[in-house]
Amino acid sequence: MSNSLEINQVDELYFPNIIPDEELVIQQNNYENIVNQFKNNNLETWKKLALENLIWEKPFTRVLDDSNAPFYKWFDDGELSISYNCIDKHLKHNSNKVAFISVDNEGLSTEINYKELHSKVCQLANGLLSLGLKKGDRAIIYLSHSVETIIAMHACIRIGVIHSVVFAGFSAQALSDRIKDIDSSVIITANGQKRGDKTIITKNIVDEALAILNNEHNNKKVIVLNKIEIQINMNKFIDIWWHDLTMNMDNRIEPIVTESEHPLFVLYTSGSTGKPKGVVHSSAGYLLGVIHSLKLAFAVKDDDIFWCTADTGWITGHSYSCYGPLSLGITQVIYEGIPTYPNHSIYWDIIQKYKVTVIYTAPTVVRLHIKLDSQLPRNYDLSSLRLIAICGEPINPDAWKWLYSVVGNNCCSVLDTWWQTETGSVIITPISNVTKLKAGSCTFAIPGIDIGVINDYGELLNNQTKGYLVIKNPFPSQIRNIWQDSSRFLKTYFIKQSTGEFYYLTGDSSIIDKDGYCWIVGRTDDVLNVSAHRLGSVEIESVVAIHSNVAECAIVGVPDEIKGQAIFLFVVCKENILDTNQENQNIMKNEIIQLVAKKIGPIAKPDYIKFCENLPKTRSGKIVRRLLKDIACGVEINQDISTLEDQSVISILRNN
Ligand code: WTA
Repeated sequence: MSNSLEINQVDELYFPNIIPDEELVIQQNNYENIVNQFKNNNLETWKKLALENLIWEKPFTRVLDDSNAPFYKWFDDGELSISYNCIDKHLKHNSNKVAFISVDNEGLSTEINYKELHSKVCQLANGLLSLGLKKGDRAIIYLSHSVETIIAMHACIRIGVIHSVVFAGFSAQALSDRIKDIDSSVIITANGQKRGDKTIITKNIVDEALAILNNEHNNKKVIVLNKIEIQINMNKFIDIWWHDLTMNMDNRIEPIVTESEHPLFVLYTSGSTGKPKGVVHSSAGYLLGVIHSLKLAFAVKDDDIFWCTADTGWITGHSYSCYGPLSLGITQVIYEGIPTYPNHSIYWDIIQKYKVTVIYTAPTVVRLHIKLDSQLPRNYDLSSLRLIAICGEPINPDAWKWLYSVVGNNCCSVLDTWWQTETGSVIITPISNVTKLKAGSCTFAIPGIDIGVINDYGELLNNQTKGYLVIKNPFPSQIRNIWQDSSRFLKTYFIKQSTGEFYYLTGDSSIIDKDGYCWIVGRTDDVLNVSAHRLGSVEIESVVAIHSNVAECAIVGVPDEIKGQAIFLFVVCKENILDTNQENQNIMKNEIIQLVAKKIGPIAKPDYIKFCENLPKTRSGKIVRRLLKDIACGVEINQDISTLEDQSVISILRNN
């Protein structure tokens, strides 16, 4: 698939220099040291980090067992408790430190310290034990993003139960598929949840999911958090209130010690087609990868107020809310609501009020804010921020620059972090205060990781050539397996080199530029083939987004007799253009076409442009291109649309 088309790369370097010189020198030296250590001896360095950053009940003697590659095992004869490493270890000196400032859907806040968190986790863990759960059993957690979700996750791992969090916006069908696949003994949920001005009766969805399973859910229990004031049906044989279960439970329980490779959790991630994959993560290796990234790339400090806006239903919420920041004992903000409710300034209010120092969010949120009111952050005191990080999808340089200048006031590092559910922790990222940034590039692989770009034949490509992004060496936080599907694991993720090494296939295409900076072009399944030229949809989108009136856009390929594929562009404008006359619309279409022709070449010019008010998105904010493709092709939509944030978008798009 390789060719040498470049994406919209920007060579200008950004480097906010806000920390005192001495601190800067320490960080830069620290980075260079660790790079050199990994270069000299990769495994020895992971060993050193594992000993420094994790508390072991039984120290390991083996670092990596690759005898059955790519089913790697890390630190496999060691034993530890992840619960101890995230909670108990802070009780001696930091028990009163706030673990979470929790902001609810209405903007009201409560705090919970490490000691209180420990008590609540222990009570629920004891409750789970009383239901007969034991090490290796599975629990589904179907709750909105809140402290209770984190408590539930830690209660599971405290007794060795493998949790699988299902994003609370998923439909009953999606939930039942996951309950069935993982064969969970319990489902931990709530009676309902608020999302903006909507009320969702979560428990009804669980009931429906179990009904789909029919007789297969015998003996399953449902633990119900009384989260909002609504009436629901409780089945006395299945359902139990969380407060009843925990009421008389001891608020202490020794955390279970497990072997390093004990599965910590399974998180389902949708492939673009087919059944979702249950990504299995290990205990020690996973946590080490997350800690390594937080300490090195984010340079976290004891007094940080860390806000990861991602829902716990996704990997970012797992690694950078539930596990990493807790293991480092810092204070986090957890916000249950959405960016537009109770008003458009809620994000800026939160940063100002709680003096957030690090925000970790997604480009889709950034683009939404730009569309809502790009100057709004200027009305707030955001000076507490020292770091802005993003992940989940490519960011166009203009949105990046907005973050850097308007939100960060030119004095925060912007970390565009690339990683996946499967990698467990951040893999390609700038290092705060060390890396000179390029707007829209996720820069370099984190020390310890070796990346490359290969072609269709598995051969490594030179810089400046687009190809498939691979990770060349095993690393501690990587996926261990797909739940119950080892052959899919092997087939999906690995390519064996003639040297015998296994490269991990990321499914993304990328380019490494002349300076070694990595640019993600997009998923390889979003690749278009236009007149035998391969073009990443994201590549074109980031150019279109340069247009001053474009808020958001998406490209899909539609069949074309002559070119193979034609390019269909959907555009959401900042200023409503749909109500204006045809001539205005034509002018804008023309400007976009010229822009693309200029930045990439005439080959990438959109053949069709459709203006619309909104794009179909999952609840995590990803644009669902496969649906846009059906709309663009004018075919019947037979795909599941239940996971969309707003299903009405589809009919509006079709009717226009
Ligand atoms: C995409 C999210 C560009 C990529 C943490 C990857 C990105 C997929 C970036 C994984 C980034 C993630 N720039 N694209 N900084 N980060 N992606 O599993 O296509 O939900 O393969 O994990 O998101 O999505 P996932």
